[in-house]
Amino acid sequence: MKQFTTLNLTALAALIAMSVLSGCGKHESPNFVYMPDMYYSPALKAQEPGSNRMPVKGTIPRGYQPYAFAKNPEGAGKELKNPVLATADVMNRGQALFNTYCIVCHGPNGMGDGYVVPKMPRPPSLQSDKIRGWPDSSIYHVITMGQNIMPSYAAQIQSADRWAIIHYIRALQRSQNPTAADVAAAEGK
Ligand code: HEC
Repeated sequence: MKQFTTLNLTALAALIAMSVLSGCGKHESPNFVYMPDMYYSPALKAQEPGSNRMPVKGTIPRGYQPYAFAKNPEGAGKELKNPVLATADVMNRGQALFNTYCIVCHGPNGMGDGYVVPKMPRPPSLQSDKIRGWPDSSIYHVITMGQNIMPSYAAQIQSADRWAIIHYIRALQRSQNPTAADVAAAEGK
């Protein structure tokens, strides 16, 4: 009885091996191709030239806003105006976004003392006379296009949010140079 079972198992194993082996390569050469156009589709392997199709000329991503001043920072500085009102909600949003995207390099008050410094080069202070004197639109241009080693944040931060961040930077600047009236207001006088 025992012998019989062993024999049977051996036969079964042989059968399985045969069917597995004969299965090999079968899908490469079927007996009958019933949808030749699909079977012999012009499929390309990844990285093969031509596999990375370029979008049709003029294609733009959904929600894309063209930026007319990409190569014209002076034009941006002169012609763009901050369209967002500095309401409490906008200031809070600007703060949250600054603390998400900018603080790592520029630091909590924009002094250029972010957490990544000195592993990354220290950015210039956003409290400088230069940036105080810049119109909002010039800061907008830097966020949109980047500047030298600072990358563009256009993909991460929507237009209205960039303007909100700028309102918050103005608040940071004012917090470091308060007027007598600001101090009195802060002290509740
Ligand atoms: C990865 C680090 C990094 C991040 C994040 C970053 N910056 Fe910068 N930023 C820099 C560096 C470095 C420079 C100086 C670039 C140069 O050499 O011109 C700079 C320059 C600037 C300038 C121009 C300063 C000047 O004096 O010319 C502004 C304005 C600015 N950043 C705003 C922002 C804002 C707003 C954010 C957040 C949306 C941000 N940056 C995020 C690194 C960063």
